[in-house]
Amino acid sequence: MNGLSYVATTAGGPWATYLEQVERVVPYLGHLSRWAETLRRPKRALIVDIPIEMDDGSIRHFEGFRVQHNLSRGPGKGGVRFHPDVTLEEVMALSAWMTVKNAAVNLPYGGAKGGIRVDPKTLSKKELEKLTRRYTSEIGLIIGPDKDIPAPDVNTNAQIMAWMMDTYSMNVGATATGVVTGKPIELGGSLGRLKSTGRGVFVIGREVARRIDLPINGARVAVQGFGNVGSAAAELFAGNGAKIVAVQDHTGTVYNANGLDIAELMATLRRDGGIGKCPGAEVIPNEQFWDVESEFLIPAALEGQLTPERAKRIKTRVVLEGANGPTVPEADDILTNKGVLVVPDVIANAGGVTVSYFEWVQDIASFFWSEDEINMRLERILSEAFRKIWETGQQHKIPLRTAAFVVACSRILQAREERGLYP
Ligand SMILES: NC(=O)c1ccc[n+]([C@@H]2O[C@H](COP(=O)([O-])OP(=O)(O)OC[C@H]3O[C@@H](n4cnc5c(N)ncnc54)[C@H](O)[C@@H]3O)[C@@H](O)[C@H]2O)c1
Repeated sequence: MNGLSYVATTAGGPWATYLEQVERVVPYLGHLSRWAETLRRPKRALIVDIPIEMDDGSIRHFEGFRVQHNLSRGPGKGGVRFHPDVTLEEVMALSAWMTVKNAAVNLPYGGAKGGIRVDPKTLSKKELEKLTRRYTSEIGLIIGPDKDIPAPDVNTNAQIMAWMMDTYSMNVGATATGVVTGKPIELGGSLGRLKSTGRGVFVIGREVARRIDLPINGARVAVQGFGNVGSAAAELFAGNGAKIVAVQDHTGTVYNANGLDIAELMATLRRDGGIGKCPGAEVIPNEQFWDVESEFLIPAALEGQLTPERAKRIKTRVVLEGANGPTVPEADDILTNKGVLVVPDVIANAGGVTVSYFEWVQDIASFFWSEDEINMRLERILSEAFRKIWETGQQHKIPLRTAAFVVACSRILQAREERGLYP
């Protein structure tokens, strides 16, 4: 493909990983494969310049993006990431995975994603607020409660969603709670949203375990990334009798064959902003994380972490993808050939967007549900979505990722076909 095209790939990058995943699903799409090219082309990509005045009086410019990959099934939905490595290509891939995820779980959404190329840890709170507000204003052209609804992702949280909601509301002249999800409870946020992605990782882990006769009680779990997703998933696994034997984040890797103390990990995270110096744990070199034996390995940091080289060393039974795009296609094949069950991101981490959907529905109705009701509905939707994917995998004798793509892409392309092409 011509390197100047916006859909050109960088070898080994997230967009290349996504395109390879699409290639694998096409043979299973039947007559809908006629529409497959739509999956390879983001519908709309907006690049914005974000100038802000820093606390020291200097002016800095940041790059921001919002990509709407596919809107055939409904408004765009997907998080916003603040990270120094954010690129258009990465946001494109993340938006495409949202299209697939929303369809895999059968939520009435298309897929979108956004990001700013910034290390937010280097900004003051005031600078972070200015950055968020100007970004929101710039992408205000294409977002809205019935157009595209952002949510938190890496390095963004409820406070950032509150600023986004306020900025959008100021610009349209009315309080629009439904423009973002993952908001504080007082501003139309939903109970259960904060831990919903981690809860979903656990629910799907439990569904898998049941089908392969693997007890959670006593299972060894290794977790990469101890942020929103990784910490909530680890807490639930530990609460159900599993041993968290290794945890890695950007501050280091800690190990304990008898299980790390979750309360201690949480306290260390609150104190240091990372778990690298957790008391009572052995600190091991980062690369050794991939040699730790486990029953569940949960990547919950960034994409591209499970490389072919690491896949060869990994000794686990189930890879539960909490992160988006953590496994490159070649590593996927290595793991599958070794008999490791890889449970793809598009179902394993769909708990977050599912409760985001609940939040949006509650905002529209201005009627709010109890946490029990939310968790019950979440479990029901995820278990049902997983059942369909599992059965599709068994039927075609294909890995779960391809099965999830078959279920999702059939829904997306069916909608595309029924809508027809405009004009
Ligand atoms: N937050 C959500 O609701 C949600 C939903 C679905 C998927 N995800 C995905 O889950 C992943 C984590 O998101 P999050 O919201 O928990 O982010 P977060 O910012 O809360 O946490 C990220 C974690 O990754 C760790 N990390 C960063 N770089 C690392 C490195 N090089 N090596 C090891 N660890 C590293 C950080 O230390 C931190 O613990 C991302 O891939 C995200 O897209 C998040």
